[in-house]
Amino acid sequence: MTMLSTTNDSIVIRQITDENLKLAKEYVLQGKLVAFPTETVYGLGANAFLDDAIRQCFYLKGRPTDNPLIVHVHKDYDISTLVYVDKPYQKELIKAFMPGPITLVFNSRGKVSDLVSCGLKTLAIRMPSSQGAQSFLKAVNLPIAAPSANLSKHTSPVTAEHVFADFGQKIPMILDGGRCEGGIESTVVDVTGDYPIILRKGLVTAQMIARVTGKCTYANQDSSLNARSPGTKYKHYCPKTQTAVFEHGNFEDVIKLYNQTISQNKTAVIMCREQDACHFKGLNVFSLGETGNQMAARLYFGLREAERFDLAIGYKFPITDEVMLSVENRFLKAFG
Ligand code: TXA
Ligand code: MG
Repeated sequence: MTMLSTTNDSIVIRQITDENLKLAKEYVLQGKLVAFPTETVYGLGANAFLDDAIRQCFYLKGRPTDNPLIVHVHKDYDISTLVYVDKPYQKELIKAFMPGPITLVFNSRGKVSDLVSCGLKTLAIRMPSSQGAQSFLKAVNLPIAAPSANLSKHTSPVTAEHVFADFGQKIPMILDGGRCEGGIESTVVDVTGDYPIILRKGLVTAQMIARVTGKCTYANQDSSLNARSPGTKYKHYCPKTQTAVFEHGNFEDVIKLYNQTISQNKTAVIMCREQDACHFKGLNVFSLGETGNQMAARLYFGLREAERFDLAIGYKFPITDEVMLSVENRFLKAFG
């Protein structure tokens, strides 16, 4: 008989083995939640067919009940059983970017629990590419509704330990796939209209999508859009410590605040682009790297690390590539 009682993190956090995947499947079938790694961030997985599992997911996260969830499937899952895939450009997007860090919002066939989409007629579908995610999704062979596995408003988790820090033993299992490589959430794209519209920026950019479909816009620039992404209006990504943020160029003000903090016997850390770290020699610095992809991979890890300090200071960066726009969006919300 399997002992289900959980007394410490080593029992909740599990390696991805056949035995643990079998147990994960049992939990999911029973409506329990299983956290799993993806290439972007960790997800808090719930059986998308079970109302109670979805309810628990919203409840444990403290998530507003008008912010819909993404349904995750393995790479061989026939998504046309869940949503209407009837436009040529939708098929081109699936072929080009799935599995990968993208979520497509389609018109729903209404097969999963209504609670997943919070009453909307659409359903968001994602096919994560990481091996850990694929193993889990293949083992359960069910659509899994999963928000990022953090408490609402907190920084999204990129390690199993981050998930444990937020939920502890309130969930029976966290599958450990190591640190997520992508580091920020998937690009959410509305594909219900004549062309794709980005609702949430991510690692797959508008330029990359437009190369495939010819046209792609951002929701905030597009007046033709009536189905906005409800999640984007909420507070997000905040580290559990005091924060401050400064314009690029104002590095002297950063140093002044840093020194003031230290003189009060408190600790501080500065989060900045690699090229700007030279201004802060001898101070605690968390470098985000140089390119948009490097910054994405480091941002949430850095924000969680910053919680060890009394003050986290963000030093803004100029945008030199398109992924940096996606990073900036989270950076400003976290420090904002
Ligand atoms: O990378 C990711 O997307 C991660 C991993 C776990 O897959 N998941 C994630 O989920 O970031 P969450 O719940 O933190 O964010 C889901 C986003 C929200 O902004 C939500 O509003 C939007 O997707 N969304 C979900 N369903 C939608 C729908 N039917 N229409 C419009 N937006 C939707
Ligand atoms: Mg989230």
